[in-house]
Amino acid sequence: MNLKNKVILITGAGSGLGKALALVAGQAGAKVICAGRRKDKIQQIAEEVTQAGGVGLAVEMDVTDLKSVEKGLKQAEKMGPIEILFNNAGIITGLKAVQDLPIEEWDKIMATNVRGPYLLIRAILPGMIQRGFGRIVNISAPIKHLPKASAYCASKCALDSLTKAVGYELKGVDIIINAVEPPFLDTEMHTGGKKPEEVVAQVMELATLEAGSQCGRIVKIA
Ligand SMILES: NC(=O)c1ccc[n+]([C@@H]2O[C@H](COP(=O)([O-])OP(=O)(O)OC[C@H]3O[C@@H](n4cnc5c(N)ncnc54)[C@H](OP(=O)(O)O)[C@@H]3O)[C@@H](O)[C@H]2O)c1
Repeated sequence: MNLKNKVILITGAGSGLGKALALVAGQAGAKVICAGRRKDKIQQIAEEVTQAGGVGLAVEMDVTDLKSVEKGLKQAEKMGPIEILFNNAGIITGLKAVQDLPIEEWDKIMATNVRGPYLLIRAILPGMIQRGFGRIVNISAPIKHLPKASAYCASKCALDSLTKAVGYELKGVDIIINAVEPPFLDTEMHTGGKKPEEVVAQVMELATLEAGSQCGRIVKIA
């Protein structure tokens, strides 16, 4: 599938994998809504998307906050209806044994990594269904049972379940939702591992699947 003029929303587009996805989409001539909380970061990426040959738009959005999501999506309307959604924003904080993990930290991780994707899907999916087309890629992670990362692991397991359940709900329409497990990446979140640029093509592939492709999968990238 050609990405030219496709309207793509990427959460957490200001750094790491989200930034790499935005730039690849820009090079392909897509209209890229770069969402995130730090205005300077998303503004910079949106400009780079436009310089690369696409159209970039920076939209401030805190994915944990319904009002912020709604406000951001309203601003994004000028790009046209969203056809591709990357639920990429994520955090891994509070690396502690579960009994030492503050409740607030648990809530923040779950809110970012699970509630965020849910709020975005809930808001964007009805339009996709109405227009009969959509691709949704949830960025999961390969770590699902790591000591001292219980909240992160639980959040990514929940994201996988959300992906599968919604996948079953989408039988019979040309809307494809999948999750992807990238390997360790050298980003703001984690030091060491592959560069986001090394895996971005494989992640982008899930957004360009042809009609009838498998839905509700959790795809591992080595
Ligand atoms: N790094 C790894 O080893 C690795 C491996 C597998 C999977 N992943 C997953 O890959 C995704 C991208 O992570 P990354 O490695 O590229 O890390 P990153 O550079 O830290 O990117 C995460 C992005 O999410 C944004 N974000 C965080 N909380 C947000 C919120 N409440 N609302 C909106 N945006 C928010 C951040 O921007 P602002 O702070 O400006 O909002 C940031 O740009 C995550 O879902 C992560 O779990 C990472």
